[in-house]
Amino acid sequence: MFGVIIMKKIILLFFILSFIIIYSKEYKIGVIPKSMYTEFWKNIEAGAKVAAKEEGVTLIYRGPTYDENEKIQKEIIMEMIRMNVDAIVIAPADKKIVSDEINIAIKKGIKVIIIDSSIADVNYDCYIATDNYRAGKTAAEKILKLSKNRDKIMVLKFKKGNGSTDEREQGFKDGIKENGFEVNCEEYAGTSPRETVKNIEQFLKKYKPKLIFASNGTITAGVVSVIKKIGNENIVIVGFDMNEEIRDAIKNGYISGVIAQNPYKIGYTGIKKAVELLDGKKVEKEIMIECEFITK
Ligand code: BDR
Repeated sequence: MFGVIIMKKIILLFFILSFIIIYSKEYKIGVIPKSMYTEFWKNIEAGAKVAAKEEGVTLIYRGPTYDENEKIQKEIIMEMIRMNVDAIVIAPADKKIVSDEINIAIKKGIKVIIIDSSIADVNYDCYIATDNYRAGKTAAEKILKLSKNRDKIMVLKFKKGNGSTDEREQGFKDGIKENGFEVNCEEYAGTSPRETVKNIEQFLKKYKPKLIFASNGTITAGVVSVIKKIGNENIVIVGFDMNEEIRDAIKNGYISGVIAQNPYKIGYTGIKKAVELLDGKKVEKEIMIECEFITK
């Protein structure tokens, strides 16, 4: 009799323990930036790390090294699926090229949070970013206020298919148009510092613009390098993203201002929402993170 009671207690204990182990499983969350080493992406990582520590989850942070390379992102997504991550937080380097791999993850029951840059053909769980189209329009409104010139308006673009910059560039052009003016020249300036400096120098010589919009940190840094070299003959320049070099350029009057995003908060919120989803909570489909226009 006594033995039966002991047996029942052992079986009950086994079930309680296995229940605790299953439900206290530490979540594994993969975060995939567009690249690893610009200040913007290091801030995304910093925010994600703090949130992961607060939530007690395992963070796997892996992205293309320098350039915003969608082919490498495709491989990383498949690698994270093989690692059985519970959720993926990704800034897609292209609006379409990484959609297939993300859909494979979704089919396997992995929660998907898109950050920073929009994506097509994916029914993700949550989208967290700057309102890039709205921010492009704001840049147009600011640049027209800062300059008396209304002709020779140039847009320096980043990469066709890159969701965030495509939307900023479109928002800027629509903002200029809504104020009754036209963008006179738009060129893709490249995706690496070496490319952008060479291209931007040629564009400035060719078009002699009076107003310039640069749609992300890489392009803005490229403009700063060229303006430092050739001087700024009263060109009003509005860029995007903030780093030490851009901050100094604003202080020294090389450029007029930038739209500064909040990458730390984007990365932080991405992890927080992933955990809420894994805990079975409902989350907002779209979360816009505020940005601000910074001048001298
Ligand atoms: C920023 O510009 C874009 O390339 C990314 O989406 C990010 O918002 C990085 O400079």
